[in-house]
Amino acid sequence: MNKVTLAEGVYWVGVIDWNIRNFHDYSTRVGTTYNAYLVVDEKIALIDTVKAPFYNEMLARVKQIVEPEKIDYVISNHVEMDHSGSLPMAMKDARNARLFTQAKFGEGGLRKTFHADWPFETVKEGSELSLGKRKIVFIPTPMLHWPDSMCSYLVEDKILFSMDAFGQHIAHSSRFDDEIGLDIIMPEATKYYANILMPFGDLIVKAVDKLGGLDIGMIAPSHGVIWRSHIKDIVNAYASWGRGDMKSKALVIYDTMWGSTEKMAHALADGVMSENVETRLYNLTKSDKSDIIKEVLDTRLLLVGSPTLNNGLFPSVADFLCYLKGLRPKGKIGAAFGSHGWAGGAVKAIEQELGQAGVELVESGLDFKFVPEPEEIRKCVDFGRTIAKKAK
Ligand code: FEO
Repeated sequence: MNKVTLAEGVYWVGVIDWNIRNFHDYSTRVGTTYNAYLVVDEKIALIDTVKAPFYNEMLARVKQIVEPEKIDYVISNHVEMDHSGSLPMAMKDARNARLFTQAKFGEGGLRKTFHADWPFETVKEGSELSLGKRKIVFIPTPMLHWPDSMCSYLVEDKILFSMDAFGQHIAHSSRFDDEIGLDIIMPEATKYYANILMPFGDLIVKAVDKLGGLDIGMIAPSHGVIWRSHIKDIVNAYASWGRGDMKSKALVIYDTMWGSTEKMAHALADGVMSENVETRLYNLTKSDKSDIIKEVLDTRLLLVGSPTLNNGLFPSVADFLCYLKGLRPKGKIGAAFGSHGWAGGAVKAIEQELGQAGVELVESGLDFKFVPEPEEIRKCVDFGRTIAKKAK
């Protein structure tokens, strides 16, 4: 087991979860890591833990450096189980440690989760913890990812332990950005932001402003690789995603029962493409929704289609729209389409869901009966052409 050093006396003691393929309904095809860190000074601090089944692996890494009873402080930057899940074991092994957590929601969240009476120390904006020659400053970053979330900034080493922010779900043998390359990291960082942090764009902009005031030499997130050579790249990307920057780009997202809604989807895409707008088409049975959400992030136009089943949405479309609604995408325009047999309902339901997701409906939906006739296919192409102009 290699010791991973971020700076003198600062170590990665996390674990690699090579085989996770679903992280609360987000497809993690290349696994992830749960990053915990150990800072050894006159006092010793453990920053976060790992998902419970991986505790022994984390403990082995800690023991390479110090015996756990020597740990003075355990810092819980976030209550969620992927980082706090090992606290019951860690607080038993680090039996002399006090537990630092955010004042407003951290202690309450941890008590409600673990029903344990640990020696809590609550911190708020600007609270400091001296480790001897260096100190940690706490920076609450509410909603990145939960209300309790905070970053810990190790001042002298200029290391920001950024919690979920700036993370990526990547399992890799290397720990640092320059050992892997942006071509591998950025697609995963984008997917992570889109699926986890997209609803909090305004808060991201504020957090990036706030963190921009720090002298940051390294960003050590709680998932994936540690940023030391491409800090500007990831911070600028977060600023852009937080603002909701988009391209003139369209997604045609649909499912189909007997092929009619699919015919409409292809005709719509033809119309949009004829206006030279970048277009992607996704059948929801064949594509993964968290991959589609990654594409939603920088897309202006969403065209969503469903056949009518039992007077309502096809289940895969309902699932996608429910997921989209929770992620509250910013600044999108869209429209609905679909085919129905004896009775309709899906197009209206899509419009309702898109409206609730904050998507501005710029055209009334296209709703055809049974198999679209050539004239109706022409209407789809024209519809695509017309709506594409609004996405430019
Ligand atoms: Fe990685 Fe919000 O936990």
